[in-house]
Amino acid sequence: MTLALTHLRMIAFRSYARLDLDLQPGIIALAGANGAGKTNILEAVSLLSPGRGLRRAAPGDFARKPEEIGWAVTATLATRLDPVELWTGADDSGKRVAKRDGKAASVLSLGSVARVLWLTPALDRVFVEGPAERRRFLDRMTLSLNPGHAAATVRFEKAMRERNRLLKDGVTDARWLGALEGHMAEAGVALALARQQALDALLAAQGGDQGAFPRAEAVIEGGFNAVLEGSNGVETYARLLADERGRDAQAGRTLVGPHRSDLAVRYASKNAPAADCSTGEQKALLVSLLLANARAIHAGTGAPPILLLDEIAAHFDATRREALFAEIAGLGAQAWMTGTEWPLFEALPDTVQRFSVFDADGASSVKSAG
Ligand SMILES: Nc1ncnc2c1ncn2[C@@H]1O[C@H](COP(=O)(O)OP(=O)(O)O)[C@@H](O)[C@H]1O
Ligand SMILES: [Mg+2]
Repeated sequence: MTLALTHLRMIAFRSYARLDLDLQPGIIALAGANGAGKTNILEAVSLLSPGRGLRRAAPGDFARKPEEIGWAVTATLATRLDPVELWTGADDSGKRVAKRDGKAASVLSLGSVARVLWLTPALDRVFVEGPAERRRFLDRMTLSLNPGHAAATVRFEKAMRERNRLLKDGVTDARWLGALEGHMAEAGVALALARQQALDALLAAQGGDQGAFPRAEAVIEGGFNAVLEGSNGVETYARLLADERGRDAQAGRTLVGPHRSDLAVRYASKNAPAADCSTGEQKALLVSLLLANARAIHAGTGAPPILLLDEIAAHFDATRREALFAEIAGLGAQAWMTGTEWPLFEALPDTVQRFSVFDADGASSVKSAG
């Protein structure tokens, strides 16, 4: 069974005054010039899942300028059960809110309906950038497999912020600090285990090399691994935090925790760290992880996730493009792909939905291209 948008409506969203698209499951190809509005469509779809969307934008960025009226994205989704209508937009204060079948729902709860994965050009440098980018990448994969991950992350970060503030203010109240450290330990261990579990599921879903896409090896690194190794990680971490109040106060932050972990990825058959691989190879590794993530979601939920593949065809030669399309088609996912020119999508079957995206008098517009 499938998870797919059957209708997408965008109102006053970025470059769109209004857009209505009827959609089918399977691959959707969007072509248009730079700045035409392709990524904006993918971004709208990404907002059907929790978080800030595929550009990690601030809520104030979505509203169409210069009018800046309230934006909204509405989608009808075919799911394994009944169709669901998801709505997300801004409330009066500009905050992003959501509705499910017309009733208010938390943005976090969207994750249990719409599993959405994306690959964007912004991720191309994830292996050579700092650990924070890779942690975010790992957390997105984890969240896609385990929607509860977001809540543990929020709990951990909130408790850590409060503890850091107390330490900064010179507060030494052991009961108060101990309570916060207890929350940090419970949430921190939960979120680290969720990451590990998700990564295990994902690597297992990889199998061997996937056609033109290499097998990735990945491990979570950092001082927090030592905490998890013992029999009672929660207690160990709480004790460690209590012991390290002085050091953390001096550093102005918490020095040990899952917020400092890193994800080390290797190109298995070359036995090389991802960072040492060529741009094209790194992109291929990202595709491998994405395909594996999609398979793991399929195995876990009974349906493949929706995929948003922005400028996916750009880094690949014709052979790899063809292989990519075959892999994606094999997943059975609704997969949105963008590119600047139709020849990039030449290898796609005729049955694939195609839309041209273009600027029409200062607003983005879309027309069916077969
Ligand atoms: N809030 C906004 N209001 C109006 N236009 C916007 C807004 N945010 C971005 N844009 C416009 O959207 C266009 C970029 O759209 P995008 O989807 O990124 O294009 P591409 O087709 O290259 O992916 C730009 O012309 C940009 O000025
Ligand atoms: Mg774009």
